[in-house]
Amino acid sequence: MIKYYVDQEKCIGCSLCAELAPEVFKMDGDKAVGVADDGNNAEEACDSCPVNAIHKSEV
Ligand code: F3S
Repeated sequence: MIKYYVDQEKCIGCSLCAELAPEVFKMDGDKAVGVADDGNNAEEACDSCPVNAIHKSEV
């Protein structure tokens, strides 16, 4: 299983990840947070972040 997490220091709040994969990322104020380990489009959202703030690890 893959776990995704958002680097709060790097995230600029563009919200693309939350739009692409709402099951996995949600906006919390002006930053995104991971709300699920994996889900639809998570990989795409990870690759689409303009500042590479989303990291993943195999668990
Ligand atoms: Fe932040 Fe990247 Fe998502 S900048 S809001 S983690 S697409």
